[in-house]
Amino acid sequence: MNRPIQIVPSVLPADFSRLGEECVALEAAGVDRIQWDVMDGNFVPNLTFGPDVIAACREHVDVMFEAHLMVTNPDEMLPNYVEAGCQMVIVHVETTSHLHRTLGRIRDLGCSPAAALNPSTPLDSVASVLDMLDMVLVMTVNPGFGGQAYIASMESKVTALRNLIDKGGYDVDIEVDGGISASTISGAAAAGANVLVSGSALYKYEEGLEHGVQDLRRIATEAQSG
Ligand code: DX5
Repeated sequence: MNRPIQIVPSVLPADFSRLGEECVALEAAGVDRIQWDVMDGNFVPNLTFGPDVIAACREHVDVMFEAHLMVTNPDEMLPNYVEAGCQMVIVHVETTSHLHRTLGRIRDLGCSPAAALNPSTPLDSVASVLDMLDMVLVMTVNPGFGGQAYIASMESKVTALRNLIDKGGYDVDIEVDGGISASTISGAAAAGANVLVSGSALYKYEEGLEHGVQDLRRIATEAQSG
């Protein structure tokens, strides 16, 4: 049984001077959730926004928010992202010494726990906590910036993860993030990803956000069905 395809914009390419309005436009375009790329300038060589910016946008839309924490110490501010109105928190396995405890804390806060793996990070790092996760994010770029080239070799990692999840009978989505466009999304979906993050490609879509979301969803759904 295929898991529902979800199209998730990254707000990284959005106009940071109008983020509330940008969220309204994304919701109107039919996105399934919005991803906030939280970067601390330490874990990744870029600095973006924190919980207060997310909280300021929360009241403008109803769509689900997920916080992608590309930060060196995610445990410190977990409650802040939940209070800001995020329904999911994604922590990088490379940034916490006690992933099992961190995921449990996210769940205890009433939020959905997810773990992200950089391209060089093996699947083994989440194999023993799949029962605690609602989603695993397989990065298809090295995090820090939008507009990078899609790393197609991650597709085999996505497929291996899908097999691991299904073999264990876990209820876990697979998300990919980085370089997802109309030309790369089919490979990612065919490999087993059902949650697809797009930033640059979606914002550059000539026919606009709504058509972009519709096209990406159609292409991914067709690829998923084979
Ligand atoms: C990590 C970020 C980006 C962003 C999407 O750098 O997480 O992957 O969300 O970037 P693009 O523009 O490649 O869709």
